[in-house]
Amino acid sequence: MNAKKRVVIFISGRGSNMEKLIEAAKHPKYSSEIIGVISNKADAKGIEFAKKQGIKTAIIASRQKDKKAVDLTIDKQLLEWDTDLICLAGYMRILGEDFCEKWEGKIINIHPSLLPQFKGLDTHQRAINAQNSEHGCTVHFVTAKMDDGPNIGQIAVPIKLSDTAQTLSERVLIAEHNLYPWALEQVASEQVTFEKK
Ligand code: GRF
Repeated sequence: MNAKKRVVIFISGRGSNMEKLIEAAKHPKYSSEIIGVISNKADAKGIEFAKKQGIKTAIIASRQKDKKAVDLTIDKQLLEWDTDLICLAGYMRILGEDFCEKWEGKIINIHPSLLPQFKGLDTHQRAINAQNSEHGCTVHFVTAKMDDGPNIGQIAVPIKLSDTAQTLSERVLIAEHNLYPWALEQVASEQVTFEKK
């Protein structure tokens, strides 16, 4: 059997997707182990959960102006932990081009929309405003262009007439929690590999 892929999750807040990945990785046949969590926010709620699970954590603050220096600090930590794959899960910071190129094919992200629709923020309200009948989530490979790398998987959910951004985000989040563990397995087991667009 191939060795499990060593995965580090990046978060900035709640970390509910991170929790689902950690849970999924407990299955003996899952192709990944979650070996670390990095947050750019010291008070990210998800950090406490990761610590309780005995997972290594690192806070790498991103407020300093030199973005390249922050990326290099992150890269150093990843090498120290012997990282194979990175999962961005609500990591509210844009990684630089050099970093994205170095980790190309090894870094994935979950985004709350059916990409290429609604890149960026506030996706639920924008989907409602557009009077779309469905919305959803996407896991994709990360490239230097934001929310633009090749898709690994998507789940669509209906938009109801009564939806607010809040109710819609709750429905999409349930889909995210199903999608992300599946998508990571596709990449870690090498059933899906990165190909430039
Ligand atoms: C999710 O909606 C994810 O798609 C987006 O940020 C949110 C993070 O939620 N990128 P959580 O921290 O995983 O609970």
